[in-house]
Amino acid sequence: MSVLYRKYRPQRFSEFIGQEKIVKTLTNAIASEMISHAYLFSGPRGSGKTSLARIFARAINCQKRKKGEFEPCNTCSSCLEMIKDRSMDLTEIDAASHRGIDDIKELKEGIRFAPARSRYKVFILDEAHQLSKDADNALLKTLEEPPPHVIFILATTEIHKMLPTIVSRCQRFDFRKLTSKEIIKKLTFICQKEKIRIENQALKLIALHAEGSLRDAEGLLGQVFSLYGDKEIHLADIKDILGLVEMEAAAALCDFLLQRNPAGAINFINELFQKGTDLEEFSKVLINYLRQALVLKIMGKSNNPFVLELTKEELDKLESQSKKFTQEQLKKILNLFLEAQNKMRYSSIPQLPLELAIVESCGVV
Ligand SMILES: Nc1ncnc2c1ncn2[C@@H]1O[C@H](COP(=O)(O)OP(=O)(O)O)[C@@H](O)[C@H]1O
Ligand SMILES: [Mg+2]
Ligand SMILES: [Zn+2]
Repeated sequence: MSVLYRKYRPQRFSEFIGQEKIVKTLTNAIASEMISHAYLFSGPRGSGKTSLARIFARAINCQKRKKGEFEPCNTCSSCLEMIKDRSMDLTEIDAASHRGIDDIKELKEGIRFAPARSRYKVFILDEAHQLSKDADNALLKTLEEPPPHVIFILATTEIHKMLPTIVSRCQRFDFRKLTSKEIIKKLTFICQKEKIRIENQALKLIALHAEGSLRDAEGLLGQVFSLYGDKEIHLADIKDILGLVEMEAAAALCDFLLQRNPAGAINFINELFQKGTDLEEFSKVLINYLRQALVLKIMGKSNNPFVLELTKEELDKLESQSKKFTQEQLKKILNLFLEAQNKMRYSSIPQLPLELAIVESCGVV
């Protein structure tokens, strides 16, 4: 199950999610046989660069593809060899692990020979920004005079580290992070196929946590399923895995502050500490929680970027607490806990700076 992202790698353009403009440009180019010699796919990890490069490589060499079509058939011998990673005409090089000039020399050797059986020889250069200088120069020379049967697809997560002279010789496509909605769509599809029973809220949290990377989302779903797959998966299970229990703890601490109950708050902190909670981590969450309370007070719910990240229960709680504090109080308390966070690293008693902030906070509420 940990290999969900490999099992569900899109195999045709129609299965690909998002990046609509890129897909449109590429499929038009295939259908009209207007193929460039070098493409550059730049963008964040897990946004589909490798997947799209592979579909493209298959499509342009597919033996069953008819004029005007763009999808690879995935059944002819060319497509199958590429799918099985046995094709002589598709070479994938990960520049992160093959940085040397020798690898590029090998590449150049390979380029000189015509394709074994297909129309094009395709080279996918992953993490292209990591090529060494020598390799870069060798690549540049090849890009200056590309043999007609050779196609390069360079992929990179860090375009600013690439030689501008190389970038300018490629047709460039900027991939974007996928939206939560797009991620949820794909996760829902996988859950149906794999018969994974999972709450909507849980899927939503996975998607949010993946921050635009479908690979990360699929990886996390796989991890959750291997741990909790024998039952319906709930929001709390995801939180457990992500170590997100502290948000409730932050809310609980705020309750003590609102009740002006420093003794209760200090007890609570010490209980957390005894249970093995990392107090620095907790203070980060607490500060973030107070910040959300302040932003909610200032901006309200509409247009508030935080609101999307919270479950209904969390939002209700946050809202009711945010109403009970004044803006001035929230500002002061935030500052006190920010200060405490800075001091924690140097304190021989880890909970002491938090305890001081608690006592002072109860004084301003
Ligand atoms: N746009 C997308 N549509 C569908 N699946 C995607 C997409 N982007 C990423 N994935 C999923 O994430 C995995 C990793 O994607 P990949 O193409 O290797 O990303 P990148 O090369 O940009 O890091 C794929 O196997 C696939 O399951
Ligand atoms: Mg990749
Ligand atoms: Zn085919």
